[in-house]
Amino acid sequence: MLRVLVTGGCGFIGSNLVRHLLAHYANVSVVNLDLLTYAGNMASLRDIWEDPRHQFIRGDITDRDLVRRIFAEGIDTVFHLAAETHVDRSIFDATPFVRTNVLGTQVLLDAAREFGVRRFLHVSTDEVYGSLGPTGAFTETTPLAPNSPYAASKAAADLLVRSYVHTFDLPAIITRCSNNYGPYQFPEKFIPLSITHLLEDRPVPLYGDGLQVRDWLHVQDHCAALVRIWEFGKPGEVYNIGGRCEKTNLEVAQFLCRELGKPTSLIRFVADRPGHDRRYAMDISKLERELGWRPTIPFEEGLRQTIRWYQEHQDWVHQVRSGEYQRFYDWQYRDRLATGRSAAAPVETPSA
Ligand code: NAD
Ligand code: TYD
Repeated sequence: MLRVLVTGGCGFIGSNLVRHLLAHYANVSVVNLDLLTYAGNMASLRDIWEDPRHQFIRGDITDRDLVRRIFAEGIDTVFHLAAETHVDRSIFDATPFVRTNVLGTQVLLDAAREFGVRRFLHVSTDEVYGSLGPTGAFTETTPLAPNSPYAASKAAADLLVRSYVHTFDLPAIITRCSNNYGPYQFPEKFIPLSITHLLEDRPVPLYGDGLQVRDWLHVQDHCAALVRIWEFGKPGEVYNIGGRCEKTNLEVAQFLCRELGKPTSLIRFVADRPGHDRRYAMDISKLERELGWRPTIPFEEGLRQTIRWYQEHQDWVHQVRSGEYQRFYDWQYRDRLATGRSAAAPVETPSA
């Protein structure tokens, strides 16, 4: 049995990955280390909670003693996903981002070095590359130019991983993926927020002019890419992962309104996110060429499936919408929505 450590296994991508690993690899057992912050949810793994190949440990990746104890029992591979992940929260307070994303990664790298692992997959993001103009795409050699505190903390972690490969020969690989969507995504992120709001006839807040572009990938395609890279990727390499699916936020919001039979007047333009990146797009030719992976779930089909999932899992949504989430929500949106105008009104020409 291969013991695989997944950090952040109760989060959005982590829970999908744990499920994917258990379903596709009979010889794998998963140690799931998760602090259960506001973003972690044990209910996301309810169906596999009793699986003897899944061991959950509630703990902090910055807890060096705990992490050392876990590695001392033998870990074959690390899928490192635990992170603070929401850009808006990083603008509100960057401290937990630096602590978890940078210090936490260093603690894991030290343990991996001390006890030895066969692979260390560091799951990073396209946001480390910064923002693109209207054309072109990020390649693995695009210089890092993070713009948000979230992206800066992920870029710092990437550089630490790179340094451990170079200095200590750690068999680590960095993956950088574009925006994910799919089941179990916390409803503060754009797509689940829009779906859950529309289901309740509440407004969808669209930042700025809504013409920012994101490259969307279904989370199951991301998980398939991660295991492909785990099996066949070269240590020390960086692999971009993306959906070849660029959409403006307005296009996504309009599609969701159409699919849910809701009026587009529910789309409200609100104050823009400070430092908002205009466009992300990934060049994924390296992963396609070298490892034969490609995205398989067409965006519209994946979105319809995701809408259905949120419709059928209202209990999950209600459960996560509590406590800290609500307090953050108030800070984030109350004032914006108070001044927001409807998308039914003419769209102003963006000033920049
Ligand atoms: P998420 O916010 O849904 O989940 C993060 C998980 O990490 C939560 O379960 C949380 O409890 C856990 N966690 C946070 N701090 C921790 C700590 N100190 N110790 C242990 N656990 C802790 O995030 P996600 O969207 O699933 O993203 C997972 C990873 O993928 C992140 O590293 C993120 O940067 C990266 N990524 C995400 C996307 C995306 O679109 N969601 C795209 C590219 C890369
Ligand atoms: P998000 O899901 O926060 O992911 P990221 O910032 O990591 O790309 O946001 C996706 C896009 O949607 C981004 O351009 C910001 C925008 N957005 C809105 O317009 N309204 C919202 O309420 C949210 C949460 C995001």
